[in-house]
Amino acid sequence: MGKVYFLTGSNRGIGLETLKILSSDSTNTVIGTARDLSNAKELAQLAQERDNIKIVELDVSSQESINQLNSQLESVAPEGIDTFISNAAIAQTHQPALSVERDVYLKHYITNVVGPIELTKVLKPYLDKRETKQIIFISSIVGSLSNFVQISTAAYGQSKSALNHAVLTLSFELKDDGYTIVAVHPGVVSSDMLNQAKIDFSEFQPEAAKFLKDNSITTEQSASYQINNVYHKLTKEDNGKFFSYDGSEIPY
Ligand SMILES: NC(=O)c1ccc[n+]([C@@H]2O[C@H](COP(=O)([O-])OP(=O)(O)OC[C@H]3O[C@@H](n4cnc5c(N)ncnc54)[C@H](OP(=O)(O)O)[C@@H]3O)[C@@H](O)[C@H]2O)c1
Repeated sequence: MGKVYFLTGSNRGIGLETLKILSSDSTNTVIGTARDLSNAKELAQLAQERDNIKIVELDVSSQESINQLNSQLESVAPEGIDTFISNAAIAQTHQPALSVERDVYLKHYITNVVGPIELTKVLKPYLDKRETKQIIFISSIVGSLSNFVQISTAAYGQSKSALNHAVLTLSFELKDDGYTIVAVHPGVVSSDMLNQAKIDFSEFQPEAAKFLKDNSITTEQSASYQINNVYHKLTKEDNGKFFSYDGSEIPY
C-alpha cells in the first residue's frame, strides 16, 4: 500500500531525486517542499505530470514560514503523513573553526537543527494520524563524534552533531507513541552542496577536496540506495539508529 511522504528541500539535489523515485510509485503521495517556488521549475514540471506530487512553499529557517505551513497541511495531507524526511540543509562554509563567524554558526544551527525540530512539532499531529510514524533526519557522517572525520566542517559538522542529538532525544521521547526516528548519512554525493565544499576545501584542505572528488556518488544513486537500503527496510526496532545509505549502521 502506498504511503504519504513529506520531504523538505525537494527542488534540487538529493531531495529532488528522492521525490522522483518515491512518486514514481503512483500509490504514494509525496508532499515536496521548496523555499522559493520560482526556483523549483523541475519540481513544478514533475508535479504537472504526476498528480501524486503536491508542492508546498517552505523555508525551514523561518518560524513564520513553518507556522504558515500549518494552515496548508489540512488540504495537502488530510489523511495524515506516514514518513517525514527532513532533507533540506545548508553547508555554507568549510573554513577552519576559528575562522567561521558567529552568524554563520547560528545560521547553520537554525536551518539544520532548529528548523527540523520546529517542523516536527507542526507535522506531528499529521504523523499521529497514521500507524507508520516515521521520521528520517538526513544527517551526515561528519556529525559523528565517536568516528570523527578529520576535515574542517565547523558550522555544518556541528549542526549535524546537534541534529543527531535531536534524533536520539526524539527517538527516546516518542518511542512509546510508536515512532521510528532515525538519522541517515546519504553518502558523499555530487550535488551543489558537495561542489561548493570541494571549492572551499581546495583552498584550506586540498586533500579533502581530492577525497570528495574521487569518492562521490550521484544524487540518483544516493536517493535510490537510501530508499532501497534504509527507508523500505525500516522497522520499529530501528528507532534511534544512525544509518548510512548502504543500510549499515554508523556510530554516533
Ligand atoms: N551532498 C553530500 O555529499 C551530503 C553528504 C552528507 C549529508 N548531506 C545532506 O543531504 C541533504 C541534501 O543535501 P544536498 O547535497 O542535496 O544539498 P543541495 O544540493 O545543496 O540541496 C539542498 C536543498 O535544501 C534546500 N534548503 C536549504 N536551505 C533551506 C531552507 N532554509 N528552507 C528550505 N529549504 C532549504 C535547498 O533549497 P534551495 O534551492 O531553495 O536552496 C535544496 O533543495 C542535506 O541534509 C545535507 O546536509 C549531503
